[in-house]
Amino acid sequence: MTHPVLQAITERRTTNLFDPARDIAVTQIGELVHLATRAPTSFNLQNWRFIAVHERASKVRLRKLAWDQAKVVDAAVTFIVCGQLADERTLPLRLQPVVDAGIMPAEMVPGWEGAARSLYNGQPQRQRDEAIRSATLGAATLMHAAQAMGLGSAPMIGFDAGAVASEFNLAVYEIPVMLVAVGYALPENWPQKPRRPLDEVLELA
Ligand SMILES: Cc1cc2nc3c(=O)[nH]c(=O)nc-3n(C[C@H](O)[C@H](O)[C@H](O)COP(=O)(O)O)c2cc1C
Repeated sequence: MTHPVLQAITERRTTNLFDPARDIAVTQIGELVHLATRAPTSFNLQNWRFIAVHERASKVRLRKLAWDQAKVVDAAVTFIVCGQLADERTLPLRLQPVVDAGIMPAEMVPGWEGAARSLYNGQPQRQRDEAIRSATLGAATLMHAAQAMGLGSAPMIGFDAGAVASEFNLAVYEIPVMLVAVGYALPENWPQKPRRPLDEVLELA
């Protein structure tokens, strides 16, 4: 029997057509984000935020900034997946629950903070790269969680990032990395498209 995770990866496809009549509950939105945040981040920074655009009026506002893509409104919810510029000063707070859970000794925290400082402090490109990486891993995990729940998903980069940041009040250290529409897919959607052959994308070293 195929493992359900493998099945979700294999069967996920980008949903272009959502059933506009089918909503999902706020508790399910919470569950999706809860699962998305199981994705790993550098030093467990968790430098992300998920804005669930669920109210119809809010989705209409977002659609105007997203190339007028109908799926932004037709999907039950469209997430603005935000990455936050990596900042080592957030680490003590992020690592405290790890210490409390008995996973990491408290004495290790300053070492991790120092390593993160040497990596990111005064390095805007790396801070931004980490924001994009974290949000992308979160978005991917969210899409596979949606698939496993029987929901379709659509990642989107077709939007005006500056306008979205201002309309949805992102902080100066936040980047709207990707929109991810989630909802019930209509049957007319294309299946997952073929991928490049393995010998073009895999190098064994
Ligand atoms: C980062 C990213 C941005 C995308 N942006 C858009 C978009 O703005 N609008 C759209 O219709 N599809 C968008 N797509 C969907 C891609 O076209 C789609 O994932 C690709 O064709 C593969 O489809 P499949 O996963 O169903 O095989 C985007 C996909 C990714 C990963």
